[in-house]
Amino acid sequence: MIESSIKVRTGIPGLDSILSGGFREGKTIVLSGPPGSGKTTFGMQYLYVGAKDFDEPVVYVTLAESPREIKNDFKMYGWDIQKLIDDGKMLIIDARPFKMEEGFVELDDSLYRGETLPFMHLTQLIVSSIKRIGAKRLVVDSLTVLAMQYANKFYVRQGLQGMLQALEDRHCTSILISESSAAEKIPIEWYVASGIILLHHLQRENAMERTLQVLKMRGVRHSEQIYPMKLSDAGLQLVHPRLTP
Ligand SMILES: Nc1ncnc2c1ncn2[C@@H]1O[C@H](COP(=O)(O)OP(=O)(O)OP(=O)(O)O)[C@@H](O)[C@H]1O
Ligand SMILES: [Mg+2]
Repeated sequence: MIESSIKVRTGIPGLDSILSGGFREGKTIVLSGPPGSGKTTFGMQYLYVGAKDFDEPVVYVTLAESPREIKNDFKMYGWDIQKLIDDGKMLIIDARPFKMEEGFVELDDSLYRGETLPFMHLTQLIVSSIKRIGAKRLVVDSLTVLAMQYANKFYVRQGLQGMLQALEDRHCTSILISESSAAEKIPIEWYVASGIILLHHLQRENAMERTLQVLKMRGVRHSEQIYPMKLSDAGLQLVHPRLTP
């Protein structure tokens, strides 16, 4: 197969220029960072801008928050997720293993029928959703929750390879959100994905500072600098060039 050289704009102001134009079409990028570092916001901004400004249908797979919470959380940025859904530009796949229905926690066994299957079911569901709306972008939030369900890491690697191949075959440029902490072993998705973006959220004097770093991006000339990142009512934005104090 001929490799695509088409670049997909990220929707994060300041990021495309450090990636020689954006992500490579059809490739999968891991987005990793500690709690509250902006992973979900980054993922949703990538999808929202793609659907709204570039007219590319998108799929969001949630394994953590409910679709209702997600729609609500992003209202403060003025992002009307429901409108994108109504216009057929966004699909949210609710892949949470446990769902709260009228006060009860219910096990959803449509997706979780034993150790080898969650990746397969989810990949099938993702592919049919991509076909349904002609999606060009996808976010899985988070891959960590999916991978946790396997005791045997071989199944994670195999399942992940299959998912990434299916996404690439459909030219669907994807972000896998990965929950990281410095103490953990390097997760499998870091090796399998074509790129890794790290979000840091660190104390600097008496305030917290957000930064972004491109750790790897196969086949792309990219900056290796760590860039300050701003989170405001307009969403995420990269600040550069870095001004050293
Ligand atoms: N308008 C805003 N201005 C500044 N900071 C904001 C704004 N909106 C949200 N935040 C901050 O962003 C954080 C949420 O970011 P987000 O949910 O994207 O992080 P995350 O990395 O997905 O976290 P988690 O690992 O818990 O899922 C909030 O906890 C809040 O601190
Ligand atoms: Mg999140």
